[in-house]
Amino acid sequence: MPSLTWASKTTPQPIRAALELDSIIYPQGVGYSFPSSTNPPLPDQLISGDNLSVMSALLPEYEGRIHLIYADPPFFTNRRYPARVGRGEDSRQPRTWQLAEGYPDHWPDLDAYLDYLYPRLWLMHRLLAPTGTLYLHLDWHANACARLLLDEIFGPERLLNEIIWIYHGPSPIRRAFNRKHDTLLAYTKGKEYTFNADAVRQPYNPNTVKTFESSPKAGFGKVPDLARGKVPEDWWYFPVVARLHRERTGYPTQKPEALLERLIQASSNGGEIVADFFCGSGTTPLVAARLGRRFIASDVTFRAVHTTRCRLLELPAQPFRILRSRGVGEISTEGNNFTTSQPFDRPREESFNLPVFQPSTNNLTLTNPAPDLDYWEADPAWDGQVFRSVAQAARPRNNQPIGTTLSLPNVPANQPICVRLVSVNGLQTQLD
Ligand SMILES: C[S@@+](CC[C@H](N)C(=O)[O-])C[C@H]1O[C@@H](n2cnc3c(N)ncnc32)[C@H](O)[C@@H]1O
Repeated sequence: MPSLTWASKTTPQPIRAALELDSIIYPQGVGYSFPSSTNPPLPDQLISGDNLSVMSALLPEYEGRIHLIYADPPFFTNRRYPARVGRGEDSRQPRTWQLAEGYPDHWPDLDAYLDYLYPRLWLMHRLLAPTGTLYLHLDWHANACARLLLDEIFGPERLLNEIIWIYHGPSPIRRAFNRKHDTLLAYTKGKEYTFNADAVRQPYNPNTVKTFESSPKAGFGKVPDLARGKVPEDWWYFPVVARLHRERTGYPTQKPEALLERLIQASSNGGEIVADFFCGSGTTPLVAARLGRRFIASDVTFRAVHTTRCRLLELPAQPFRILRSRGVGEISTEGNNFTTSQPFDRPREESFNLPVFQPSTNNLTLTNPAPDLDYWEADPAWDGQVFRSVAQAARPRNNQPIGTTLSLPNVPANQPICVRLVSVNGLQTQLD
């Protein structure tokens, strides 16, 4: 079998790593109890850190247990992707947009990119359940190499589909056809796998319906079940998440919820674990939770974890945990120089006003919130270790102001209250 080699290719080894619990988010208090030892186990988790250490740390508990992994890594574009954080700006005037650090996709060369991708694909393979599926989302920059890597790791016979996602949009290209598709390589771990055809059926094109209604012989003896609909082809059209879409978060290269819906419905069942170790704005965990799946999501940037947390809070969500990974020995991201712009464990002092607590109403109020406040949350009984967030307010996506009052549940008096605030620039401050 042909395989891909490059000068620095080595047999991947998981690194030694551990996960630490940072916080538990109870969306508007749902599921919170005091004292906290009575809290039920929480399978849904959002993890901050390099996914090499995250996946290594998950191996002891999750090897062979994840049913579906969607991976949307940097594409080897050699660009930087800023996040758009302004509100109410004129979308046609990019120079006026308020931008902040998003994520980099910069590499010294293709070898460095392959050194980065290869061990992560191995780890995903190990984490997948025997009937599980991986969808690797890339484009023309690296998908040919990735396909050879996946053939090597999964076996070429495990290629389920090469899905082409097509979309429209402006392009500066004048000397080639506009590049308007991405490629999703779907590989199954085993011969037996989950594929829920009925969950993803689509209505037939009205012309096809008309043709068959007028002439049952049109299909050369094969008559489609027009009422049941068809299993979609391996090319999909979904519009990119554009500026006017309600789902847009401002996080760069955010993928459409409709795309995730289709593959989660096809390749997993209710209650199963769906993972995304490059979760960005959190499209996968959001859709997975909405469809009744459990999720494990991670990203190396604070902005991604923070955006995902805010997005999950828009659902009538279950409580979920936020963890951070610790690599034992330093983690290499091979030239991509990632920074978690504000790690969860290093609160930074910002000039936020102290909120005021009114015991008569159990309300916590921020007078004069800083104009760049993006999010704040409170733990009404801070134990100095795990932040139990029972009330949250996030800056709405439209131009409305952020909520300035958090209503705390009725916890016993004399407990220390702790507040965390996040600025638009992705700096987190803890006031306790
Ligand atoms: C293409 S974006 C994902 C977008 C996402 N699918 C969405 O819908 O918003 C790629 C993401 O991978 C993250 N990333 C890159 N390298 C990583 C690593 N080593 N560990 C964890 N996350 C990483 C980046 O921070 C970025 O958020």
